[in-house]
Amino acid sequence: MTRNISVIVGSLRRASYARKIALNAIDLFPAGYQARIVEIRDLPLYDFDYDTPEVADKPLPGEYTGFRETIKASDGVLFVTPENNRTIPACLKNAVDIGSKPNADVAWKNLPAGIISHSVGRMGGYSSQKNLRLALSYFDMPTPGQPEVFLSRSPGLIDEEGGISQESTVGFLQDYISRFAELVATRPRPRP
Ligand SMILES: Cc1cc2nc3c(=O)[nH]c(=O)nc-3n(C[C@H](O)[C@H](O)[C@H](O)COP(=O)(O)O)c2cc1C
Repeated sequence: MTRNISVIVGSLRRASYARKIALNAIDLFPAGYQARIVEIRDLPLYDFDYDTPEVADKPLPGEYTGFRETIKASDGVLFVTPENNRTIPACLKNAVDIGSKPNADVAWKNLPAGIISHSVGRMGGYSSQKNLRLALSYFDMPTPGQPEVFLSRSPGLIDEEGGISQESTVGFLQDYISRFAELVATRPRPRP
């Protein structure tokens, strides 16, 4: 049995540190897990009219359907995000909102979630991570307790090949991913 993990990167920037961290994290999953980045770049800005059948001239975008189906088919989701103006980047909030509707079929519901935040500064995206937890708090998503992963001064964490340059950080991330994988295995989302 393979467990599918959707990895969502909260940055659209080509050289994003979050994306590099996510790619490193993907390699740390144990055997039996398949983690891959689910792109959020092309998701149209959330508009509830799309989820309102009475609004006939705004049909549900195929990108919404595809994203929701991908998340619903996942066994876990790992968010890797920077911080914009003390909260999560708009692209990530957009994805959270799209996955949160319709109310009768919420893609996030009960899905185990891991969160890694980073910042080029000292705070490691603390406020971003806390805001992401707040945004997800309605969906009963199991998350690992400790440690929380705030990666600070991210440019110094990544080497020229895109790998994590410090062994201690690799070990820290490995421990977190192992705990998250364990959570995915032990707290699976109930399937209908
Ligand atoms: C619009 C904007 C707002 C930002 N706000 C914050 C912030 O509140 N806290 C912080 O630590 N860094 C902030 N930054 C700096 C980001 O941490 C930095 O650009 C980082 O490289 C973005 O992550 P990425 O490399 O994954 O794209 C901000 C950057 C932008 C472009």
